[in-house]
Amino acid sequence: MQTLIKNIKQIVGIDRTDRLRLQGREMSQIDTMSDAYLIVEDEKIKTFGPMSELTEQLFDHEYDATGRLLIPSFCDSHTHLVYANSREHEFVDKIRGLSYEEIAKRGGGILNSAKATAATSEEELYDMALQRLDEVVRLGTGAIEIKSGYGLSTESELKLLRVIRRLKESSPVTIKSNFLGAHGIPMEYRGHQEDYVDLVINEMIPRVAGERLADFIDVFCDQGFFTVADTERILEAGIKHGMRPKIHANEMAVSGGVQVGVKYGAISVDHLEQMGDAEIECLKGSDTMPTVLPGCAFFLNLPLSPARKMIDACLPVAMASDYNPGTSPSGNMQLILSMACIRYRLTPEEAFNATTLNTAYAMGVSDRLGSITVGKLANFCLTKPIPSYEYMPYAYGENKIETVFLNGRIR
Ligand code: NIG
Ligand code: FE
Repeated sequence: MQTLIKNIKQIVGIDRTDRLRLQGREMSQIDTMSDAYLIVEDEKIKTFGPMSELTEQLFDHEYDATGRLLIPSFCDSHTHLVYANSREHEFVDKIRGLSYEEIAKRGGGILNSAKATAATSEEELYDMALQRLDEVVRLGTGAIEIKSGYGLSTESELKLLRVIRRLKESSPVTIKSNFLGAHGIPMEYRGHQEDYVDLVINEMIPRVAGERLADFIDVFCDQGFFTVADTERILEAGIKHGMRPKIHANEMAVSGGVQVGVKYGAISVDHLEQMGDAEIECLKGSDTMPTVLPGCAFFLNLPLSPARKMIDACLPVAMASDYNPGTSPSGNMQLILSMACIRYRLTPEEAFNATTLNTAYAMGVSDRLGSITVGKLANFCLTKPIPSYEYMPYAYGENKIETVFLNGRIR
């Protein structure tokens, strides 16, 4: 099946080099083509070029994109999209002055969500997650990583991962699953959390691997949560069972999470609000993608991750939503694009690269997603009629996406 999209005002985010990620100054370039066409064959991008070179042929479908930009779908490499309950009462507690850590210590936060998850059926969790997924797809997300981590018991973690598997099977979006059993420490393990780490290692990881439920393994390696020593043990077990690490690191404190992530070949280390020079040095020359989560820092009023400094130090940077009920109740990647520019001083070009190709890398799919490249999956969006690609981050809060293509088909 062949589909023609013609009269595209501008294709944005072309990559002809097959690069898997962009770092430092490479991030400031974005390749475009104005007055263009693009042809999709089955689920892939077959070719594109200037309208003046389009030859007469018959297509199964034709779309006229006059006035519209064509951009690669956003890749959202960090979400906790499967959860049972919203947590707006904690939001109010935070406004009144409690910190995220204080709420967590009282049994709120992740433990609050774990309680609700235990009481919710797989079916209900699936329905809620599917609704959230549909919404972010309409906003331009074409690939997404989803974590477990609101279970914190073997059965509940498996339940969450089975929901993610069902989403993978039923949705046209590219989905990667991440086992985050080490997300919080259940109340009954307070004071002897190494026993919970044992449970993760000896019971959860083998069951998760046995059902092939996870692509990645994650640990919340931070002050008040899991230590570097816990993290090392869990990562070793996960790696042994074929899962690649991704780490929640350095949100509350300079936790050692970046170093342990790099040491174990993590595909990404995420959050990074608390970064010293040693952390930046350690990432240089590694395969690990530093990933910033602007929605979380915005929602919790955290200090900002030094994204600008990392790019200036020749590092790659990715930016994802962290969609979850506690620290970022939005999966809107258009807002992340705006925050990248407004709050972190990335140029629009850097922001596009941070939310497409570099996030694709951070979830291990940049060989087939994240840019407009012949042979890649045809996951892209047509915008509404807008003046330029810079308008995308500029007009924050407005939905600029009109039409979404996933695997070559309109959604
Ligand atoms: O990525 N930081 C750890 N985990 C989540 C928040 C989870 C929650 O509060 O529900 C995050 O921000
Ligand atoms: Fe997270």
